[in-house]
Parts: sequence; structure tokens; C-alpha cells
Amino acid sequence: MTELASTQDIYGDHRPAMEAVLDRLVSRVVSLRASMKQEMGLDPIEHILSRFKSDASMRDKLDRKGLPQTTEAAITQVYDALGVRIVCGFLNDVYVIRDHLIADPEFEVVEEKDYIRHAKPNGYRSFHMIMRSSRGYYAEVQLRTISMDTWAALEHHLQYKGPHTGNQRLIVQELKRCADELASTDVSMQTLRDAIMGEGPALRAHVPDDYVSRD
Ligand code: GTP
Ligand code: MG
Repeated sequence: MTELASTQDIYGDHRPAMEAVLDRLVSRVVSLRASMKQEMGLDPIEHILSRFKSDASMRDKLDRKGLPQTTEAAITQVYDALGVRIVCGFLNDVYVIRDHLIADPEFEVVEEKDYIRHAKPNGYRSFHMIMRSSRGYYAEVQLRTISMDTWAALEHHLQYKGPHTGNQRLIVQELKRCADELASTDVSMQTLRDAIMGEGPALRAHVPDDYVSRD
């Protein structure tokens, strides 16, 4: 397939159908949120964000991956053209929402990365799922707690400050330490909520016991 000129939309004719898939995924999460809220008496979600990767970022990503600038590559070889981020107050809710999403008949989960149980070496934590809609469009869902989200936002911000700000090694080390402290606080907060709400072991079982990375 010939490469598209930079003036042409990288998503071509697929854009409206992809927008519809993103809307659908968000509305699934919104209705799941409502039913969990009714069941638990607590809102499990702090906020939901969704984004359609811009034409320019998709083109950059295709370049970085050594892929051609074609609609086909953008749709079939990059899995995060559509993105949904779900930020929860508590750790357990991340896993409860994940369990509901894998049971959704409209989307197939093609990949999961549990960066909560297995944090990235820099301390990044989040639960990632690649979902495929029945029409074959991919979406990346990121599930995380408020603490994880705060950390990721700061770390992202620092990345763009470049390597010339202060002592880079110390910054990386301190960021990792903050991530681990936040992770440990997430476990404590979950334990507190369980104690207050009187939640039984069935729900608590979701809290990973190897949660705080040891590296
Ligand atoms: P690409 O999709 O090619 O970027 O690689 P991948 O599929 O291996 O990515 P991964 O699942 O590890 O991460 C996808 C997304 O998670 C990124 O686009 C970020 O939004 C987020 N992410 C991953 N690692 C980090 C990190 O170290 N810091 C921050 N702030 N965000 C991260
Ligand atoms: Mg990815």
C-alpha cells in the first residue's frame, strides 16, 4: 500500500467508526461504574479520560516503530489509536473493573500487562489492557489508582524537562522511591477501606501481595 501524504488523515475513512468504538467503550465503563456504585454504595472511579491519538502522534509512532505511514498500519499495527484511562480511588477496584471488562462480549481482550504486580523498573504502575472491538479496532485501556496516576503525570512531565535538570541519577532514584511509597500507601488505604466497609476476603483477594516491587 502506498504511503499517505501528510495532508491526508492517517485514519482515512475509518475515523468515524473508530470514534464510535471509543464512545462505546467509554459508555460501557460509565454503565459499569453506575452498577458498581449501586452495588458497593461507593463510586469506584475517580475519573475517566479518553483520547483519540492525533494524526501527528500516530505518524510519529509509526516512524518510531519503523512502520509505513499507511491507514492499515495505523489501524492494525498500533494498538493505542484509541485510549481510555480509568482512575480509581482504591486498588481493588482496578481489578474488579478489569474482571468486568474481560467479560464484556463486545470487546475481546488481546493483551494484558500488569504493571501493578510487576512495576516497571522506573516505578511506573498501571494495569494495561489491549481490547479489540468486534469490528477489529484496537483500544488501550489503562487502569490505575489516583496515586499511580499522580506519579505517572509527574514522571511524564519530568521526561519532557530532558536530562539536564539537576542530578539525573538521583532524580530517577527518588522517583522510584516515591512510586514504591505510594504503592505501599495504596495497600494501606485498601486495608483501611476493607476494615471500614467490612469487606470480606472475596474482594480483598484482588490486592496483590507482591505489590511493592523489591528491585
Ligand atoms: P508503545 O505502545 O509502543 O508505547 O509500547 P508498549 O505497548 O510496550 O507500551 P506500554 O504498554 O508499556 O505503555 C503504553 C502507555 O503507558 C504509554 O503510552 C504511556 O501512556 C504509559 N506508560 C508506560 N510506561 C510509562 C512510564 O514509564 N511513565 C509514564 N508516565 N507512562 C508510562
Ligand atoms: Mg502500547
